[in-house]
Amino acid sequence: MKKRILSGMRPTGPLHLGHLVGALRNWIKLQEEYDCFYMVADWHAWVREYEDPREIENNIVSCVADWISCGIDPIKSTIFVQSDVPAHLELDMVLSCLTPLSWLERCPTYKEQLREIKRRDLTTYAFLGYPVLQAADILVYKAKAVPVGIDQAAHLELSREIARRFNRLYGGVFPEPETLLTKAPKLLGLDKRKMSKTYGNFIALSDPPEVVIEKTKKMFTDPKRIYFKDKGHPLKCNVYAYVEIFAPRKKDELLSSCKAALIGCTECKKLLAEILIEILKPIQQKRKALLEDKGEILSILKKGADKAKEVASGTMREVREKIGFLK
Ligand code: TRP
Ligand code: SF4
Repeated sequence: MKKRILSGMRPTGPLHLGHLVGALRNWIKLQEEYDCFYMVADWHAWVREYEDPREIENNIVSCVADWISCGIDPIKSTIFVQSDVPAHLELDMVLSCLTPLSWLERCPTYKEQLREIKRRDLTTYAFLGYPVLQAADILVYKAKAVPVGIDQAAHLELSREIARRFNRLYGGVFPEPETLLTKAPKLLGLDKRKMSKTYGNFIALSDPPEVVIEKTKKMFTDPKRIYFKDKGHPLKCNVYAYVEIFAPRKKDELLSSCKAALIGCTECKKLLAEILIEILKPIQQKRKALLEDKGEILSILKKGADKAKEVASGTMREVREKIGFLK
């Protein structure tokens, strides 16, 4: 029996290169070794976008189309939508009762996001409880491990604390989920700020070649390199960082030609655009074919939800028995 893992992504908009290197490539690899549950966290999107949630529905299908086009295999992995499995919310209620407010209030992501996100009012009850719902997502499948980036580490720590508290109060049901930290290099946005939907500084997996060319043209480079004859500092250049990640075999040559001013930034960006277009081509072909018949994705999600419901309702039977709901 393979160990079960679970991970999730909020359907907030088009997936981009950051998702590919920061999560998807890792998810794809893990499929060989683990029993993977990959979830579209639509409730988690709702918590943050409750004022204008209309986009979420479309983003779900588009997000799953991207996952599958990149190589998440619905035969190997269980792909499903969080809100299709009501047990998440039921367990969320149980866990909410036993989670001290202080654990949530001191969660670093909570404080940070309240400070940083100004466009939305996140002073809500559900936003404070965001990590409890995440714990429910994981524990309802008794996942042994959760592949995530470092930004989610605090939430995983909370999930383990919540699991321990449940087990101590009512008896052992939940394994403590391990954090499988993704060892991906950090891909910055095109303008060298953090890659984010708000800044719009990313290349989407669905961007056609002309858009990739336009976007790479505008990328920030070594600020000290103004004329062709100026020697470059590739290690300070974002274009070089992208080449390192997406075409590691080309990086050494580029490093020396940039340092010696043998290649100019315009040519270098063209090279990067070609590399990215090649990587995106098969993904986009698969995506296009997949979206021709939306029924296929819907049927994958239905099968995924059925499988997820079966596992989740088994856990909920145990939970109800332990907490004394002997129905
Ligand atoms: N909170 C995660 C994020 O913002 C998404 C998520 C929801 C998740 N539920 C999860 C990740 C369960 C891992 C496991 O990226
Ligand atoms: Fe960056 Fe390439 Fe210009 Fe060097 S040549 S500074 S690596 S864009």
